[in-house]
Amino acid sequence: MEKLEKLYEGKAKQLYATDDPEILWVEYKNTATAGDGEKKEDFTGKGRLNNLITTIIFDLLKARGINSHLVKRVNDTAQLVRKMDMFPLEIVLRNTAAGHFCSRLGVEEGLPLKEPVLEYFLKNDELHDPFVNDDDLVALGVCTREDLAEIAPLARRINEALIDIFAKIDVKLVDFKIEMGRASDGTLLLADEITPDSCRLWDQRDHSGKVEHLDKDLFRRGLGSIIPAYEEIESRLVELAKSE
Ligand code: C5P
Repeated sequence: MEKLEKLYEGKAKQLYATDDPEILWVEYKNTATAGDGEKKEDFTGKGRLNNLITTIIFDLLKARGINSHLVKRVNDTAQLVRKMDMFPLEIVLRNTAAGHFCSRLGVEEGLPLKEPVLEYFLKNDELHDPFVNDDDLVALGVCTREDLAEIAPLARRINEALIDIFAKIDVKLVDFKIEMGRASDGTLLLADEITPDSCRLWDQRDHSGKVEHLDKDLFRRGLGSIIPAYEEIESRLVELAKSE
């Protein structure tokens, strides 16, 4: 597979065309951003770690009947994915209160939620990805009721599967963001990435009750390098993948 012209550059990834019109080449970058891109830093090794972590998670999800856009990892920092018609949505699932849920609703970080919370944010840089509801999305023509009737249950199934996967490596899945799109045959598929950039992951191995962040909150909060935490997630997932 040949890597051709660059189609798009985001904060953490670059997208390239390939000689197959149905397949795109994704390069994972070392850049970490936070606060709507205001905070930015390069971490050597982050691209390799996130490429591998996403690949392992998408493979573990596939084994649980959840398909994604992933075709295969091609080298340390790149993977091939199916070309998709993406919904311009950040789909957030929350199991424990953290981040914007706490600031918006005035609750303590760490509060267990009685049910998982599903939220949608419209991808729009100028508006800083506003929080939207089902009616907003249908009224604006971003998706149809029928799309949402497929997107929401798939998002909840992904949450259940990810809770199980992370529990097996002694990590609590606090919340995460995913993206979805339709493949050329119309199938709804999980896309983008699932990495410590896009999830809040709390270590459950003994830390005397102290929250040990294994995710991008380390960077958001200026708590030091993200690399040891991302390596920890990677090595635990590699072990899990071997045993499954
Ligand atoms: O910031 P907030 O609390 O809404 O984030 C919820 C979850 O979604 C977190 O796991 C965060 O890492 C993820 N997220 C993301 N990309 C964004 C916004 C949130 O991966 N642009």
